[in-house]
Amino acid sequence: MEIKKVGVLGCGLMGSGIAQVAGTAGFDVTVLEVEQKYLDKGFAGIEKSLAKLAEKGTLKESPEAVRGRLKGSTKQEELADCDIVIEAVIENLQEKKKMYGTLDAIIKKDAIFASNTSSISITELMTATRRPERFIGLHFFNPVPLMKLVEVVRTIATADNVYETAYEFSRKLGKVPVRTSDKTGFIVNRLLVPYLLDAIRAYEEGVGSIEDIDNAMKLGCGYPMRPFTLLDFVGLDTTYYITHVMYDEFKEQRFASPPLLKRLVMAGWYGRKSGKGFYDYSDPNSPKANRL
Ligand code: 3HC
Repeated sequence: MEIKKVGVLGCGLMGSGIAQVAGTAGFDVTVLEVEQKYLDKGFAGIEKSLAKLAEKGTLKESPEAVRGRLKGSTKQEELADCDIVIEAVIENLQEKKKMYGTLDAIIKKDAIFASNTSSISITELMTATRRPERFIGLHFFNPVPLMKLVEVVRTIATADNVYETAYEFSRKLGKVPVRTSDKTGFIVNRLLVPYLLDAIRAYEEGVGSIEDIDNAMKLGCGYPMRPFTLLDFVGLDTTYYITHVMYDEFKEQRFASPPLLKRLVMAGWYGRKSGKGFYDYSDPNSPKANRL
């Protein structure tokens, strides 16, 4: 099957990034949101990112040409003729299932449904629809326009041709796809989450300060983003949610949330997006580690 028209559910950080790379790759894209104000915010981010990429000379066309293939909508019916729909809405199982159930009746029968979830079971999401063989995971990484990886996730019910179509589609987006199966966290979060939680535990145990642990991993291992910087970047609420899903699945201590992470989330310190997390972003150009 050929993919021509792409639907994206959600115009937040991940949804807008996915829409941007699909538009850049030449696909016609419709992004669905519940309110126009979320579309406006997401599209402003896309325009800023496209301008930056154009300035660096990494866009093959003008930002306007890419933007011309992207459309926002608040009407589900406008996604009816999409060949693939990629969902990137908030990580809430019940919300996602409700949305899939409604869209299943609206979107054409042979369209592929893909979720960008980082931790929720693809198999469980799939049960909200009557197209289990056409349901997969496509897990992108933040910031989507820059990060090359896509995890292509299959369930025991995914049809081979659907999986291969999605794999090829990821390539056409200019990404490097990896094959993985529906085990919570897939490849990256299975390895990344225990590492990030260990950084918090190391701090709790007094192994080093936030800055020193951060610098150690950047300068000693060459990681592009330091652990506490990355935690604040991903979002502490998001990380906390992921720990719950992963701990619930595996019942292993390495996936359990350290007490400090829980307290930061309870206090509303979600990281960069809320202005405060392990670092204080009052001056975004010079974040200062908080005393925790
Ligand atoms: N679009 C276009 N350009 C962007 C951009 C975007 N969305 N975001 C950043 N840039 C630009 C910056 O403006 C900057 O431009 P400049 O060189 O002209 O100043 C350039 O990219 C480089 O950015 P920075 O100088 O800020 O920093 P880096 O050199 O460190 O590169 C990075 C940024 C590629 C994000 C790098 O830090 C990195 O690889 N970080 C790791 C990110 C990561 O691990 N992501 C995965 C998170 S986990 C996840 O998403 C899964 C989920 O399930 C939890």
